[in-house]
Amino acid sequence: MRQIDWKEFVKLRGHEKRPYFEKDGRPFHIVMAQQFDREFLDEICALATKIRGIAKSHAGRDFLSSLLRTRRAMLYFAQPSSRTYLSFGAACQILGLSTLDVRDLATSSEAKGESQEDSVRTFSSYVDLIIMRHYSEGLAERMAWMMNFIGRPIPIINAGSGKDQHPTQALLDIYTLWRSFENYGGIEGKKIAMVGDLKRGRTVRSLSYLLRHYPGVKIYFVAPPQLQMGNDLKEYLREHKVPFEECDSLREVIPLVDAVYMTRIQDEHGKIEGLDFSKYQFKIDYLRLLGPNAVILHPLPRRDEIPVEVDNDKRAMYWRQERNGMWIRVALIAMIFSKDQDILRY
Ligand code: NCD
Repeated sequence: MRQIDWKEFVKLRGHEKRPYFEKDGRPFHIVMAQQFDREFLDEICALATKIRGIAKSHAGRDFLSSLLRTRRAMLYFAQPSSRTYLSFGAACQILGLSTLDVRDLATSSEAKGESQEDSVRTFSSYVDLIIMRHYSEGLAERMAWMMNFIGRPIPIINAGSGKDQHPTQALLDIYTLWRSFENYGGIEGKKIAMVGDLKRGRTVRSLSYLLRHYPGVKIYFVAPPQLQMGNDLKEYLREHKVPFEECDSLREVIPLVDAVYMTRIQDEHGKIEGLDFSKYQFKIDYLRLLGPNAVILHPLPRRDEIPVEVDNDKRAMYWRQERNGMWIRVALIAMIFSKDQDILRY
């Protein structure tokens, strides 16, 4: 791999960065959704399903927890998290990795003025994997780039980078769609609505990048005009010939789609005055408008985008989606440490 400085590196397009996120042609750093191809997506979904099956028996759980027993992972979460933090922690335990964490920067030497680079490099001295969530958009990418040029490089997994990306959430969303449409022709050709704060929601961004790998998919971006999907992403979809439409009415879109992906307003990034978000909430009577085989997803946490009465409908997938997140993360970590073949042979 060519040594490349950061300024030059950031200017590369997603797929051009991919070699820097791989080791021996295998995924190493997990930074952005553009780094995944269709083969990888199919492989990871199949691996997650295989792992779930193995984990049903006592002997299977013993086998899984023997795979990475001598390894340690660091959970570096500088932003609030329940699901991502816990499911990564659980995934590590399933594979036998022990974990260390920093969740509050006030307890880390960053509070003494240490740079983010030095902090992460320090973490890397003690562990074999860093899973990081940070408010700064480019930090995980920068750390992955940096790892390639230090003596003991370890993999970096981006567990949420500011408003930009959440690639492992996108993997679990794909896994949930894959399972939901397994008997209905797969994800190919499905119509998917993404609803809510699309401008500042990182999950919808990462998922949109992945949907280009499924021919015939059409996306409906349902959001108030000031929170519509960013131009960079729309440009990417045009380039890859993924049809999309921007709309303002959730009610009108519901009968047309196979999946509704709800999101909350991301007001930690600033309040928007005079916004009536109720138009972008899933009303209980929408259940009658939604197709019988359609599904409702949400990365969670929810506020009032989905009333609790919807939870018991068989099309509500968000609780299963949470659980899928743990299995896909087990699969991902197993792949990074080249344990996938051992698992598939089990
Ligand atoms: C999401 C996130 O952090 O981006 N949560 C998650 O990881 N499941 C969505 C959100 O916070 O709205």
